[in-house]
Amino acid sequence: MDAHDSTHEKDTAPVKNVTVLETGTCDIEAPSAPCAIVVIGACGDLARRKLVRALYRLFCNGGLPLDFFIVGADIPEKTSEGYRNLIKESLRDLGGEEVSEEAWRNFSSQLHYCTIDPETGSPYALLADFLSDTFKKREMPANRLFYLAVPPDRYVDIIGDLGKASLASEYDGFNGWSRVVIEKPFGHDLASAQQLNNSVQEFFREDQIFRIDHYLAKETVQNILMFRFANAIFEPVWNRRYIDHVQIMAAETLGVEHRAVYYEHAGVLRDMFQNHMLQLLAMIAMEPPSIFEADRVRDERIKVFRSLRPFPVDQLDDSLVLGQYAAGRGPKGEMPAYCDEPQVDNDSLTPTFAMAKVWVDNWRWHGVPFYLCSGKRMTEKITEITIQFKEVPYLMFRKVLPETIQPNILSIRIQPNERITMAFQAKSPGAKICLQPVTMDFHYASIHEGNLLDAYETVILDCLLGDHTLFVRQEGVELCWSFLSPILEACETCDNRRQALHLYRAGTWGPPRVDELMNRDGRTWHAAR
Ligand code: BG6
Repeated sequence: MDAHDSTHEKDTAPVKNVTVLETGTCDIEAPSAPCAIVVIGACGDLARRKLVRALYRLFCNGGLPLDFFIVGADIPEKTSEGYRNLIKESLRDLGGEEVSEEAWRNFSSQLHYCTIDPETGSPYALLADFLSDTFKKREMPANRLFYLAVPPDRYVDIIGDLGKASLASEYDGFNGWSRVVIEKPFGHDLASAQQLNNSVQEFFREDQIFRIDHYLAKETVQNILMFRFANAIFEPVWNRRYIDHVQIMAAETLGVEHRAVYYEHAGVLRDMFQNHMLQLLAMIAMEPPSIFEADRVRDERIKVFRSLRPFPVDQLDDSLVLGQYAAGRGPKGEMPAYCDEPQVDNDSLTPTFAMAKVWVDNWRWHGVPFYLCSGKRMTEKITEITIQFKEVPYLMFRKVLPETIQPNILSIRIQPNERITMAFQAKSPGAKICLQPVTMDFHYASIHEGNLLDAYETVILDCLLGDHTLFVRQEGVELCWSFLSPILEACETCDNRRQALHLYRAGTWGPPRVDELMNRDGRTWHAAR
């Protein structure tokens, strides 16, 4: 809004022309219930770069409810007109987005802005009035989705202010549901995560809370469950009898960018491991739920977190490699060292890379190591999960083929060039008995033309539909912190912190120490090499 917007009457009229969202053969049958989507932190980076684009694309493809409006809420003073201009610019800057005049006119007529003044006793009272008026005028149920696109240190205050303005209430004052979407990080360690959860739950029940891990919303990550549980041939071998080890690699080419203030306190373990890496591990390691329902799926992921073997913090060197990028060269030229990035301390000991050997102590996985690796400024952007199977039990070809043969390897490429590849041995054509490793490849592009749904589109869609499958439950957050907090404490308080941080050149695959550790285990990295 501005609540004082002169175009208020016209602006709050519902928009009617929506098309059906086509995602291959998986069309969305029923759009979600009418609602207001409130983006808090509307002028910030996340809102402008990711959310509005996702909302616009959903709108163009019929993924938003038939009757909806969007309110951008933030501290800078703005009119709704000013906000619309900001969003139009952001969509243009993002490129690749066709902003047709007609679609933009319809979309922007549903965009409003509300200035938040945190200095007043009730910063969200104006927003509450605007929502209440608009719901009445449009005769729509008072369903509200609040997306917190703000730095995590503002979560508690904002949730409290929403609560005090009765915006969290359901069917009491406002006649409709109220949901809140919270981005990671959920806390800085176990204690702060528990504190945050308590504050949120003072106003929102667990089923009103949507904690995002955007990796879970990636199409290829969701497919892990279909691949494992909708096919008969993989589950029988998906265990310690047949699997030698699992590698999970999330390599990025980007450096810390403009996020140093956050990253300096987070580092790669909090930024990638506490959430994305452990969630990927859970998708690979979990048992089949009895039915594909949010809580049943989340129960199974949580059981994996409960089975994580406590990390050997007294022998960190055997199971963990931490690194930080030094200056290097990439395809776009010279890249500065992490310590020389803007707003980074010159003596920073923040890790930008980590490789950890993790064990899941249960019947299925006992004795199978999971190698988790993630870093910034690596050679390529690749997220890939590799399952290496055991060698054949008996090599009947040993007389003609003295060398050992490469075991089967299943690679699940999460991004980019999404695909699944199975490597196996085949006879090389010819009179002599020779084997050669070959692959069977499935590329997503071969069954789907056009873009896959972006993770943020999926997240918004599921929040609107009230589906929690891809979101993280409080217990899950706390279990991940319980696993990670002792590691963080050991790393951050050890005497040889500097020596334990291995430098690697920007644009490489990380510190050589990683290969030493893998070689000692008789293994090598497949993903991304
Ligand atoms: C975010 C991290 O959660 O995930 C970032 O905070 C990281 O540091 C990003 O770059 C990676 O996400 P994606 O989808 O680009 O692999």
